[in-house]
Amino acid sequence: MLKIACMSLSGGQGKTTTSVLLGKYLAAAGHTVLAIDADPQSNLTTFLGHDVAPDEPTLLEVFKGTVSLEEGIYPTQVDNLFIIPSDDGLDGVQDYLSSSGVGAILLKKRLEPSQDSFDICVIDCPPQRSQICKSVIGAAEQVVIPCEATVKGYGSLVRTMDAVNELQEIGASGAKILGVIPFRDRWVGANQTQESRMCIEAIANEVGAELMLPSIRESERYKQAISKGVTLSELGMPDLEYPFEVLLKRICELIGQKP
Ligand SMILES: Nc1ncnc2c1ncn2[C@@H]1O[C@H](COP(=O)(O)OP(=O)(O)OP(=O)(O)O)[C@@H](O)[C@H]1O
Ligand SMILES: [Mg+2]
Repeated sequence: MLKIACMSLSGGQGKTTTSVLLGKYLAAAGHTVLAIDADPQSNLTTFLGHDVAPDEPTLLEVFKGTVSLEEGIYPTQVDNLFIIPSDDGLDGVQDYLSSSGVGAILLKKRLEPSQDSFDICVIDCPPQRSQICKSVIGAAEQVVIPCEATVKGYGSLVRTMDAVNELQEIGASGAKILGVIPFRDRWVGANQTQESRMCIEAIANEVGAELMLPSIRESERYKQAISKGVTLSELGMPDLEYPFEVLLKRICELIGQKP
């Protein structure tokens, strides 16, 4: 199971949008996918149509080890796509992780039993630099960083790279950056806005051209596709799928399979 974190350390950078669509496109391509909602806001859980029933195990119980990993995994309405959900109770894991002394390696350890049950795991992260993020970085082999094509997005990218580097340097993570996706790239007619162009150039200078993925354009269609549970092609906008096609291809190269 290849573990991929969607991480960006600011709010509204496209982490959940990327996680939902990536999970669905990977599943549609025939991969078995485990989506993990590591954000107490639990937007991924909602967007994948999962209602957490009272007393139902979530990522919180999986982290604490009070249930087996299997008990925290649920099917979704999408074939091949499973979820470990969260709710706002997940905030309670922060203290547990910091006092455990092994927070950075705990998620990796908890996911070990599913290593052979899924092809790919996609982890949606919270926006803060928290104990949860540390544990996700410790578990992930690859990190996808979506970041708004704005000055705020550039700052989010830099903070995210710092957080990954920090854990790499102390040997607590072997995560590599899989790619950076500029989010809400704004075009007016045939022209990219100056802000989007300049910010995407700055992002590319920061990470190098080889890590850049095609941008997610500013468009209400992504939101519509997610809320209606359809693909962008089904909405008549196949061009908007391009960033995910390229990302899928990179992932398939990593796991040695055809896209
Ligand atoms: N292509 C797009 N253009 C404009 N808005 C979009 C686009 N895709 C998604 N959105 C909207 O942008 C907002 C932020 O997206 P998203 O929730 O994916 O970010 P996030 O990084 O997960 O946020 P958070 O840090 O709060 O978890 C959402 O309201 C989403 O519906
Ligand atoms: Mg989110």
